Amino acid sequence: MRYILSYYRNYIPFMFLIMAFLFGQAMCELALPGYMSDIINNGIVKGDLAYVKGMGSIMIAVSAAAMICAIGGVFFASWSAARIARNIRSALFRKVMAFSAAEMDRFQTASLITRSTNDIQMVQQTTIMFLRMAMFAPIMGIGAVYKALHTSVSLSWTVGVALGVIICIMGIAFFAVLPKFKVLQSKLDRLNLIMKERLAGILVIRAFTTERQEEHRFDEANLDLTGINIFINRAMSFLMPSLMFVMNAISVLIVWAGAHLIEADKLLIGDMLAYLQYAMHVIMSFLFVTAMFILLPRAIVSAQRISEVLGTELSIRDPDQPLQLPETEESSEQAGPANARGLVEFRHAGFAYPDAENNALTDIDFNAEPGQVTAIIGGTGSGKSTLIQLIPRFYDVTEGQVLVDGVDVRSVSQHDLREKIGLVPQKGTLFSGTIASNLRYGDEKADEADLVRAAEIAQAMEFIEKKEAGFEEPVAQGGTNVSGGQKQRLSIARALVKKPEIYIFDDSFSALDFTTDKALRAALKKAAGGSTIIIVAQRINTILDADQIIVLDEGRIVGKGNHRELMASCRVYQEIARSQLSDEELARYGAGQSAGASESFGERGRSDGRS
Ligand SMILES: Nc1ncnc2c1ncn2[C@@H]1O[C@H](COP(=O)(O)OP(=O)(O)OP(=O)(O)O)[C@@H](O)[C@H]1O
Ligand SMILES: [Mg+2]
Repeated sequence: MRYILSYYRNYIPFMFLIMAFLFGQAMCELALPGYMSDIINNGIVKGDLAYVKGMGSIMIAVSAAAMICAIGGVFFASWSAARIARNIRSALFRKVMAFSAAEMDRFQTASLITRSTNDIQMVQQTTIMFLRMAMFAPIMGIGAVYKALHTSVSLSWTVGVALGVIICIMGIAFFAVLPKFKVLQSKLDRLNLIMKERLAGILVIRAFTTERQEEHRFDEANLDLTGINIFINRAMSFLMPSLMFVMNAISVLIVWAGAHLIEADKLLIGDMLAYLQYAMHVIMSFLFVTAMFILLPRAIVSAQRISEVLGTELSIRDPDQPLQLPETEESSEQAGPANARGLVEFRHAGFAYPDAENNALTDIDFNAEPGQVTAIIGGTGSGKSTLIQLIPRFYDVTEGQVLVDGVDVRSVSQHDLREKIGLVPQKGTLFSGTIASNLRYGDEKADEADLVRAAEIAQAMEFIEKKEAGFEEPVAQGGTNVSGGQKQRLSIARALVKKPEIYIFDDSFSALDFTTDKALRAALKKAAGGSTIIIVAQRINTILDADQIIVLDEGRIVGKGNHRELMASCRVYQEIARSQLSDEELARYGAGQSAGASESFGERGRSDGRS
């Protein structure tokens, strides 16, 4: 909670201003029944029309003043609440941007969206209510009680009766409805989750014609939410009329009791009417205060959900005194082996996902050298993606170390570390914009020539040229208007624009045909020869000519070497090779052909069925 409250601190002066307005409004409204009583007692009853006119004008002036104060109060309350909400929202966004993969796994995107929209909205509305009512109602209530007693002590029991009945009604509502508010938000979360996931997977749903089931699943969540909403609204719809009834009954009670007093000459008509109005003010103020008590818990639930995000300890943080990585070379193209940077070392690294029982990676130990291609191969779920995510520190190792240029990745700043790395993730993501704006994600300052160079290496030029607007061709949100292969090539080009020292390709060539795959790798080798290149692949053709191949199986390294060595020594590798290459190819390649021979495999090699 304190995370939220700190956002209110800057607005304390405005709260005083609002309070001043509300105080003015309350004073004016409390004065009105007095004037009315005077008009009746001294003007109407005595038939003095001039008095009625004079007092009437004063009443109008006081009403106008009350109106101006009320407008001022609402204005500043809404203004402050909107700004506070904006500040919380941007703090939330900034926090989420700093989240590491582990925190994202914990919170889920859908919930983060509800928290930054619906929950903040809730807090904002309650803030307005609170600024208006929580200050106004007590001033008004106490003032009205004072005035009422001043007008007629002998009628005061009526207000006592009214408050007793109202406390009972509100108490019942409080205990019946309150727990439901807490459930409401989590149901909303669930609905959003289903909605988001299903919208993202709409094509899969179509393809498997599971619309019925999905509708059913959505209906379930929807009905759940509706059920609670109906309950709350039913409780509310019972509440308002019964409170109205109580108020009307009290009015009758006051008139009835007042009539007796008037008859006995103990009360003036005007005073009775004034008392009636004061009594209503007392009851209304009391209602507002109790309504606050009902609304507040709901807002507190929302505030807690926001605080939970804001207060999350980041699992991956920059060290207090980050070490400096060795100076970055001007361009990796010129970097010869002598001054090459980008050495990646895994030293007995182990990793387990948070809450997972078993290690996803165990005792990973190898070096990826600058100027060399290091390939990682292994079956699905063997830990390849997990392994490479340790290099840019998306997750921290749980055992051992990962070093870049001889420095533990945990002891340098994330920014410096990631500056060195060009990552092409397994699931390519493009942002809405143009092809050029997406490529410039790698380097804002890249000029046209840089983009063309990167696109050429990534074999993307041919399809970019075919587009009407070339590099300025629009890309839809999430890159839905480019094909899977095109998306991969653009992701690769984006990494190339960055000219990093370490290239990481996570299964990035899977959607490319063999010829393109090969042309791309050849161009890459030429252009980024001095850099460290790490390629994750499922397709053996992609990595036949790598300098070093790491074979992963169930999170462990089961083989290390080049193709020939592994064919001789590693059972898992042999199995992968046998399943993907024909006997003839095996014989030829196994017999000692080196890089370049992959061409013959390229065209004829069987794919692994994923491309
Ligand atoms: N965010 C996560 N939380 C928990 N477990 C995970 C997470 N991501 C992956 N895993 C688990 O870690 C193991 C390794 O997954 P990983 O994604 O590294 O496999 P992979 O070798 O890249 O597979 P593929 O070839 O299919 O991409 C799997 O068993 C997977 O279930
Ligand atoms: Mg993977």
